[in-house]
Formats: sequence, C-alpha cells, structure tokens
Amino acid sequence: MVTRDLATLADPDVDIVALRGTPLPHAESKRYVLLHKPSGYVTTVSDPRGRPTVADLVRKIGARLYPVGRLDWDVEGVLLMTNDGDLTHQLLHPRYGLPRVYEAEVRGSVKPGELPRWRRGVTLEDGPATPSAVELVRPVGATTLVRLTFTEGRKHEVKRYCEALGHPVTSLRRVAFGPITLGTLPVGKSRPLTPHEVHALRAAVASAPSSLAPPARFPL
Ligand code: URA
Repeated sequence: MVTRDLATLADPDVDIVALRGTPLPHAESKRYVLLHKPSGYVTTVSDPRGRPTVADLVRKIGARLYPVGRLDWDVEGVLLMTNDGDLTHQLLHPRYGLPRVYEAEVRGSVKPGELPRWRRGVTLEDGPATPSAVELVRPVGATTLVRLTFTEGRKHEVKRYCEALGHPVTSLRRVAFGPITLGTLPVGKSRPLTPHEVHALRAAVASAPSSLAPPARFPL
C-alpha cells in the first residue's frame, strides 16, 4: 500500500515500512523476560559505582531490556525486564494497583493474634500503607516468614512497614508481580514470558483510561 496520508497507522511488529521502496530500519521487536533477581544486584541498566546490575543478568538475550520498577539491592525475586515502554508505564501506574506479593522473613515471633494489627496498616513518613493481604507462613528459628501483598510500589515499603510493626525484615523476596509468579525459576536465571503471561499482563491493565492508553501506532 502506498500512502501520502500522515494519519496512516503502521504496526512495526507486523508491517514493513518503506520510503520510495527503501525499507526503513525495523523497530526493535518487543521482548518480555522474567528474571529471578538475586540479592546483590542493583535494579538499573548501568551503575556509576560499578556494582553488578540486573542488566548484566539478561545481557545474553541481546536486546536492551529495562526493569519494570525496582527491587532493592538486597532483595530477590520477580523482576520483569522489557523494552516495551508503554506496557511498563501502565504496569507501574498506581491506578491499576497491580498486586506485588512478598515473602518477608522478619525478626522475632509474629503471633496469629497480631495479624489484625498487621492488616490494619500503619502510617509511614510518606503516608498510610496498608497491605491488601497478610498471611503468616511459618516460624523460622528466631524469625517469622510473613507473606504480604501491596498494590503500590513505594520505596522500601515492605521493609518500612515491617519495621514500623516492630519486626525488621531480615530477608525479602518478591514472589509475584501481578499475574507473573516465580515458579521454579532458579535465582539469577531468566526466561522469556510465555504469550499467555504477556496476555495476562496486558489484561491486568486493559481498563486503561484514554490518558493512559498506549499511544496510537506511529503515524506515517
Ligand atoms: N519493599 C521493599 O522494602 N523493598 C523492595 O525492594 C520492594 C518492596
């Protein structure tokens, strides 16, 4: 098809776009990867202090992938990496409240009777924080394993939350981000998301209001 209409839409994943017969460079295809982030890696693509980054762990994939949100340096677990900036923006937008599930090992013994207090929420220095779910998993020596779900991605939120309840975190792992779970992926390893998982992520943000909808495919 030849067009002079600037409003014509093209899908860079499907269409070949040519100018007077010469194909334009192809837009990079979209990649979606689940990384089981280990502790000791910063969630950036490069670090001025030379520390290991999550990008180091997915470099062999050969595409420039960016983390969807952040995990602290010492936190492990589910980290999505992608070059799909529009989807990243939506997944992180507070409007969608994508659930992030964490397993926190916390100092001391948390008794079932304390759970109502854990579920009620606390006020942190940047405002109230209330998990959408809290479960006691099991005691682990002098610590307790607690599973908490938050629907926002505030800085150090889980650590600050547990600290405020008098049980500082001794180790933290994110086991799910929206519909994506760690499964049996070993720590430090990555794998492409399945088409079903990508679809589930898109479905999680499908009710996008127009101001958040991905921009229309680029006009020619
Ligand atoms: N909460 C934290 O305290 N740290 C993280 O990395 C993520 C959530």
